[in-house]
Amino acid sequence: MEIFDQVDKLIEEIKAYPVNNAEELEKFRIQYLGTKNSIKPVFGLIKDVPNERKKEFGQKVNEAKQTAEEKFRNHQTSLKSAGRSDKYKTFDPSLPMDGEWEGSRHPVSLVMNRMIQVFEKIGFEVAEEREIEDDWHNFTAMNTPEDHPARDMQDTFYLKGSDKMLLRTHTSSVQARVMTTQKPPIRIIAPGRVYRNETISARSHCQFHQVEGLYIDKNVSFADMKQTLLYFARELYGAKTEIRLRPSFFPFTEPSAEMDVWLGTDTEATKRLTKGTGWLEVLGCGMVDPNVLKNCDIDPEVYSGFAFGIGIERSAMQKFEIKDIRLLFENDLRFLKQFSSAT
Ligand code: DAH
Repeated sequence: MEIFDQVDKLIEEIKAYPVNNAEELEKFRIQYLGTKNSIKPVFGLIKDVPNERKKEFGQKVNEAKQTAEEKFRNHQTSLKSAGRSDKYKTFDPSLPMDGEWEGSRHPVSLVMNRMIQVFEKIGFEVAEEREIEDDWHNFTAMNTPEDHPARDMQDTFYLKGSDKMLLRTHTSSVQARVMTTQKPPIRIIAPGRVYRNETISARSHCQFHQVEGLYIDKNVSFADMKQTLLYFARELYGAKTEIRLRPSFFPFTEPSAEMDVWLGTDTEATKRLTKGTGWLEVLGCGMVDPNVLKNCDIDPEVYSGFAFGIGIERSAMQKFEIKDIRLLFENDLRFLKQFSSAT
C-alpha cells in the first residue's frame, strides 16, 4: 500500500540524514522532533488507512518517531564526549594556573627535608632502604640480643607466618645495610618510616619517621660526634642553641647518649614541651659498638664511628604546634592545606 511505503521511506530518510556536528544535529531535531516535525503529518494519513490496518500503520509511524529519537540521543552523547576530548586536545600546560590550590608538603616531609639539607651541607649522603626488613639487619647486626624486649611480637610487627621478616622498628637497620655493602669512609643519613606495635593515641602512633646518621672512618671520636650534633642543633633551632648529652643506653652504641636542646622556660609552650625543665629531648646517639662493626665485616681496630637517630614527628609537632600525632597520618586536606609547598 502506498501510504505504508511512505512511512518506510520516511524511516530510511531519518536513518540516512547526515549528522556530523552540533549544527546538523539541531537541524535533524527540528526536522523530525521539533513542533513542526515531518513525522506528525504522516500520523494524519491514518484517516486514509482502512480500519483493519490502522493499528499496524500507527505502529509503523511510531517506529519512525522512535528511530528519530534514538538517533538524536546517540549523536548527542557522542558529540558531548567528543567535546570533552577536544577540550583535552587544546589543554595548554604552559598557561598560568587558574588560582586553584597547588598542593603542599606534608609537615613531616618539611621537617625531614630540612634535616637532610643540614646534613648534606657537611657531606652526608642520603641512603634510602627497605621498610620490610629481616631480623638480622634490624636486630642481630645491631647487637640486639635474642631476648631483648624490642624483638617481642608485642612490640614489633612481624610478617604473617614469619618470625624473621618484619616492618623495621628503626632506621638503624639502614646502618647494617650500608656497612655490609660499602667500605669506609661512610657518611650517610637515612630518612624513612618505621613501625612499632604501639597503641595509637594523641602522643604515639604505630608508624612514624626517623632520620638515622652514620659516620665511619679512621679516628672518629666522641668529640667529632658532639661537634656534628651541635652544628645540627644550631642550624635547626638557631645559632645560640645549646645542647647537652645525657648518658643513655642503646645496644648498638657504646657509649650511648641522648641529646637535649635548650629551649628555656620563657613561654607556656616551651614549658609544656620541656615539662618545665627547659630541655627538649631530640635524639639518641653514640659511638658505634665494636660488635656492630664486626657483624658488618668492618675492623673495629682500624675504624670507629658515631651514629644517631632523630625522631621526626616530635619535631614537626613542636614546630607547627600540632597537638595530636594522629593528624599527621589522616591525610585530612583541611589540615594539610595549612602547610607550605616549599621543600
Ligand atoms: N634506633 C634508636 C631508636 O629507634 C635511635 C638511635 C639511638 C639511633 C642511638 C642511633 C643511635 O643510631 O646511635 O630509638
